[in-house]
Amino acid sequence: MRTESGNGKDTLTRLMEASEKSEMKRTLGPLNLTLLGVGAIIGTGIFVLTGTAAANYAGPAIVLSFVFSGLACAFAALCYAEFASMIPVSGSAYTYAYATMGRFIAWIIGWDLILEYLFGAATVSIGWSGYVVSFLRDLGLNLPVYLTQPPGAYVLFNGVWQYLTDDLAAEIAKTGVAASSLPQAKGFINLPAVLIVASITSLLVVGIRESAWLNNIIVVVKTVVILAFIALGIGYIDTANWGGSFIPENTGEFGKYGWSGILRGAGVIFFAYIGFDAVSTAAQEAKNPRRDMPIGIIGSLVIATALYILVALVMTGVVNYKELNVSAPFAVVVDAMNKPWLGKMVKVGAIAGLSSVVLVMLLAQPRIFYTMAKDGLLPPVFAKIHPKFKTPAVTTVITGLVCMIPAGFFPIGLVGELVSIGTLLAFVIVCVGIVVLRKTHPELPRPFKTPLVPLVPILGALTALAQMIGLPLDTWLRLVLWMAAGLLIYYFYGAKRKPLE
Ligand code: ALA
Repeated sequence: MRTESGNGKDTLTRLMEASEKSEMKRTLGPLNLTLLGVGAIIGTGIFVLTGTAAANYAGPAIVLSFVFSGLACAFAALCYAEFASMIPVSGSAYTYAYATMGRFIAWIIGWDLILEYLFGAATVSIGWSGYVVSFLRDLGLNLPVYLTQPPGAYVLFNGVWQYLTDDLAAEIAKTGVAASSLPQAKGFINLPAVLIVASITSLLVVGIRESAWLNNIIVVVKTVVILAFIALGIGYIDTANWGGSFIPENTGEFGKYGWSGILRGAGVIFFAYIGFDAVSTAAQEAKNPRRDMPIGIIGSLVIATALYILVALVMTGVVNYKELNVSAPFAVVVDAMNKPWLGKMVKVGAIAGLSSVVLVMLLAQPRIFYTMAKDGLLPPVFAKIHPKFKTPAVTTVITGLVCMIPAGFFPIGLVGELVSIGTLLAFVIVCVGIVVLRKTHPELPRPFKTPLVPLVPILGALTALAQMIGLPLDTWLRLVLWMAAGLLIYYFYGAKRKPLE
């Protein structure tokens, strides 16, 4: 099957040629690429979500949720690795869809990837802001609510300013206090979140080498913190916390403990694994992408999975899972170990960790826009490379500016699940794409081959679909609305244009 790209050339030939002549600087080797992946993966998921997932859904068996979700991601990662070694273009899933299913599906995925990267960066910058505000408070500096929260009414409960919902008011009432009697304040803008997006955007404009260098430092900091947590925590594990109820009995409701709880836990902590695919957007800045892309993608996922499983074992071994129903589960465990200095270290690790996730997401997004503009699906200005810095500077700044809007003005809950559903949809398309391309172009050189095709891609697509189905209906509705907006843009713009030469 020859798919015409719109300018007479076979799509795959054009994409392969594009991968050879990169206008960007090729500076990244296998280590940098792997660290880029770890930089993107380890963040909000492990530092924030693990505790509530263990407490509410899986109990100590959250360890199995991590194994399940890690395995599902491994199927997708093997498919990404084949594509990234074969067509090392910075468009990631968007490019793979272009090569296998044509321009229209490619646009759909390109538009969908905005949910993963641009909204992903916004979500994590909001989480980052939460950690920074709490760290500054520990140091005696209290930032006002109107500068640290998006618009809305807030109440000071349990020492933290929280968005006042009916659920929270009911929870407060259970303690015998009326929410109206607690200190109140109004939010206006989440300034720390806006500022982290602005600073990282500036760094990304200046250069990929500088950005990778900062990412490497951050990854070392967060990995050391997590390893210290594991090493010290092991000594405090009380096997009674696992014993008897490693998989707590299901309450009768789907997703509340038991095997269904493990599945629901996997759906929630899937967010923790997002990011290994971001490595593929640096393909045109890799020195030897055909060999090193698979190393970066699979290597970073393996490292993160191992760390996650160990962290989950320590958390649920040191304290009872019921105590972990908080947004800072590491703090609960560290308190139980009676090591306040480790608590401070974990906070610094989380702040560092979350900033590298924002960095890699804000690095990935403009590279996808760049590739889409090269294909004529976005205005040519998105494909401009800065003459001195050799980065897609204009699109990096546009991405940063747009990202500041959800970062500064949206609550974290609204954007987080959209990021997961958007990423899972991309996984489905990439897995299907592998099977399609093996059929349509069996002759093409594949430096890395996904094993056991079609079994692995089919399992990858099915496990991603299963996790999508587990997400709430309103997240699906938002996805549909987002896609409808994308279709309108396609018909009024992209459908009428051709790839740039
Ligand atoms: N995996 C990334 C995180 O957990 C997105 O923050």
